[in-house]
Amino acid sequence: MRRLEDKIALVTGGGAGIGRAICETFAREGAHVVVADIDGDAAKETAEEIVKTNGAASAYTVDITDTDQVKRLMHGIKEAHGRLDVLVNNAGIGARADFRHLSDEEWSKVWSVNLDGTVRCAREAFDLMRSSGKASIVNLSSVMSSKHTRQMAVYSATKGAVSALSRSLAVEYAPYGIRVNTLLPGYVETALIGRYLQNPMVAKALLTQTPLRRFGRPQDIANAALFLASDEAAYITGAALNVDGGMQTTL
Ligand SMILES: NC(=O)c1ccc[n+]([C@@H]2O[C@H](COP(=O)([O-])OP(=O)(O)OC[C@H]3O[C@@H](n4cnc5c(N)ncnc54)[C@H](O)[C@@H]3O)[C@@H](O)[C@H]2O)c1
Repeated sequence: MRRLEDKIALVTGGGAGIGRAICETFAREGAHVVVADIDGDAAKETAEEIVKTNGAASAYTVDITDTDQVKRLMHGIKEAHGRLDVLVNNAGIGARADFRHLSDEEWSKVWSVNLDGTVRCAREAFDLMRSSGKASIVNLSSVMSSKHTRQMAVYSATKGAVSALSRSLAVEYAPYGIRVNTLLPGYVETALIGRYLQNPMVAKALLTQTPLRRFGRPQDIANAALFLASDEAAYITGAALNVDGGMQTTL
């Protein structure tokens, strides 16, 4: 028996990086994966790859900063499947700038995707997830929610808020059979931070703080998301799981 057999799973930001690895992993484990991404071509590419390998997937072009688009996505899932078993709030963006130079627009943009996008999806998915009876939300926070480096203020603040929101939602949604957990990845090799990690000085400094001495791979995060999404985690809600090579434990 595969671990997500017959489940309907929505992954935001499923067109690239960690989201794509989560989509592919969930499909291998038997889920029908709804790939949602602001980059519609990337979402389609992920879904097509899954279907090519005998998995089940559909693609939606969705900007999670737009409530109407998120409502339309949920409506589409309702029409096609009638319920939603797993939601991974993965879509996220960064902004690297000295705090004192961050404009209102830059500040708001990151909040609008990282926190408000998560809020919108978790809120608009509620009825569909309640219909599941055994549903799971996995939110992508970050090691940066509690570790800090220069020029990451807005990103860190949004991820701290995602972690706090997840704990509140775990309490609010538990009576409806919806578990809510958080993943805290360390540095993972994706487009989001790829260029930053290519700087040898930066890479050396970060790896010194990482007991397992390597950066994360999207598959490392997908494996943890799979566990939290599956019924193996049936008694886990409100949890925060570090997937960071031990980074959180170092000074
Ligand atoms: N890469 C890391 O080191 C790392 C570490 C900790 C946490 N995270 C978190 O993991 C998640 C995925 O990161 P990644 O590294 O795979 O990023 P990525 O940039 O490789 O991929 C992000 C995906 O989200 C999509 N997206 C962006 N804005 C969107 C929007 N408004 N609506 C819908 N889709 C949107 C992008 O098109 C892209 O496909 C993010 O929440 C990120 O903060 C990443």
